[in-house]
Amino acid sequence: MKNFLQTAFAALCAVAAVTAAPAQDADTEKGIERYRQMLKEDPWSNPGLLDADRGEALWKTTRGPKNVSLETCDLGKGAGKVDGVFAELPRFFAGANQVMDLETRILWCMEKIQGFNRADLIKRPHPGGGQPVKELGAMATYVASKSSGMKYAARLDKPQEKAMVALGDELFHRRSGPFDFSCATCHAAEGLRIRLQGLPYLESPSEAKKVIGEWPAYRVSSTHVMTMQHRLYDCYWQMRMPELQFGSDASVALIAYLTKNAEGGEISAPALKR
Ligand code: HEC
Repeated sequence: MKNFLQTAFAALCAVAAVTAAPAQDADTEKGIERYRQMLKEDPWSNPGLLDADRGEALWKTTRGPKNVSLETCDLGKGAGKVDGVFAELPRFFAGANQVMDLETRILWCMEKIQGFNRADLIKRPHPGGGQPVKELGAMATYVASKSSGMKYAARLDKPQEKAMVALGDELFHRRSGPFDFSCATCHAAEGLRIRLQGLPYLESPSEAKKVIGEWPAYRVSSTHVMTMQHRLYDCYWQMRMPELQFGSDASVALIAYLTKNAEGGEISAPALKR
């Protein structure tokens, strides 16, 4: 009963908190924007670059039960190619018979090439507050950084890829869970905010183009790099849904849908977020 009441109360608060931004908040918003701008003006102040470096070393180091590096991992442009691959993900990988986003593909390579145990890797895939991004996430940060400055150009035109985008669209709009929220509740209108945070209008291509290419991103408030899988895990947590499984079809579908919306948008990973 207590749990039910707590949940119901939290739901009311959450519903009340998703509101249109009143005009007087514009100054706060401007202040936050200026703070982000200052960090961006000095690119070397971005601690996410340290994780990209750590990821590069991990990528090239012989590791795992098979004691090999990931330099033979094919991220879509041939074994070992890292430059520009992130700009064309997610994509269908015939060998795996699956559509995969960057993180799911690295997971696959760690399992198949290095012999790591998949269940161990996905048990606790994301860092807690203040902890550095996990090894897989650091490698994702490294690979994504190698597409920085490019534009999203995932083709997403194969039948399997189109099906994933459609599934992501469906999931984005489906209300469920104890709050009866969908992603669209928070991300399908302009100018919404929850407490102090602006809620990006991810359904709109012009907005999606601005933010999707920023991930993996260094999040100042939690002092670590957060990957896109982690971002979605966290939003599902906010919806009080069951945990989003790392590399699951649901996670890949949502990323495919968001990437499609962001088509043509610039990649600036790892970017700095509030
Ligand atoms: C209860 C409201 C809520 C719901 C529902 C929600 N999110 Fe979020 N989402 C947020 C908040 C708050 C942030 C921004 C957090 C911040 O500023 O750090 C965010 C940020 C994001 C971002 C990063 C945007 C950026 O600015 O770079 C993505 C992508 C995202 N959400 C996707 C989703 C998806 C997909 C779903 C559905 C599975 C979802 N969200 C459901 C509240 C929500």
